[in-house]
Amino acid sequence: MNNWKNNLCKITPYVPGEQPTGDIIKLNTNENPYAPSPKVKEALRAYDTGKLRLYPSIECTELKKALADTYGIDTENIFLGNGSDEVLALAFRAFFNSDLPVLFPDITYSFYDVWCELFGIKYKRIPLDKNFYIQSKDYFIPNGGIVITNPNAPTSIYKPVSEIEEIVAANTDSIVIVDEAYIDFGGTSAVGLIKKYDNLAVVHTFSKSRQLAGIRVGYLMGGKTLINALDAVKNSFNSYTLNSLSQSVALAAALDKDYLKKTASEIIKTREYTVKELSKLGFTTLPSSANFIFTTRTGTSAKALFEGLKQKGIYVRYFDKPMINDYLRVTIGTKEQMEKFITAVTELINE
Ligand SMILES: Cc1ncc(COP(=O)(O)O)c(C=O)c1O
Repeated sequence: MNNWKNNLCKITPYVPGEQPTGDIIKLNTNENPYAPSPKVKEALRAYDTGKLRLYPSIECTELKKALADTYGIDTENIFLGNGSDEVLALAFRAFFNSDLPVLFPDITYSFYDVWCELFGIKYKRIPLDKNFYIQSKDYFIPNGGIVITNPNAPTSIYKPVSEIEEIVAANTDSIVIVDEAYIDFGGTSAVGLIKKYDNLAVVHTFSKSRQLAGIRVGYLMGGKTLINALDAVKNSFNSYTLNSLSQSVALAAALDKDYLKKTASEIIKTREYTVKELSKLGFTTLPSSANFIFTTRTGTSAKALFEGLKQKGIYVRYFDKPMINDYLRVTIGTKEQMEKFITAVTELINE
């Protein structure tokens, strides 16, 4: 009886941050507080709905061309997908087929182990050092692939490209994925290395610095062999992952490089303000190169603070996991939102 129940997939899924609506301050999923580029609005207005009748372009030529120009690479070095989560999932399937474990930090984006479980990939979590830093030498061991988030999440700490190169150069027998979802908030991308190393894949998203989490566009940059393997996996699953409306909107955002720069530097300024104010309140914040911070205060329960902020309509992220359960991850919003956040934190720690 009910034998089919034994055949169901028994995976423990990734749990995304809550998406509450209403009059709240949402600092829990590292979205961008600013509206997308005005060029995005123009592209939406100009969009020919007649195009929806047809399947979207598989080549995504225009969007690939805009990105290739941005990074000084060729269109054939780019793979596009429905958010970088999809791109990463397909990359795990396409790149990691070894008997050796795939390595990634013990504290990092928590989707990586879920994809490994889903696809039956062996993996090993490599501990960060006591300062939450990714030490390159820890990745100089036999492996079936490596994934590094840079800046890392949720720690926000950036690892210089020269150190990323150390890892890529020491592991030419496996593929190294560098997930650079937050790179535009203070880091330098490793994409310049893809010409030198055919085992390097760099993943970006339109969800963070380009304000388009709702449109779902991400991309991977790497050598042609990697892109071909990804195309083969994608076309064995769903050929049309990127819809035509998303392609038009992402193109408009990709072309407006000034808007990205302007809004990212605004967020960096607000990040510095927030860190300074938190420090006055006795918080220690890890050095951030992202659009979020990771902060802790001796004598204050991070969980209680998280709950207290929620009561006040301010959503941040708390991870009930060893090593990081004293910390809160706080997305950087507008200056006004962060002032309200600081006021709320001040009230809560003085209660
Ligand atoms: C490190 C990292 N990689 C990838 C993603 C996925 O981004 P998206 O699927 O919106 O492109 C996120 C989202 O928060 C992230 O933090």
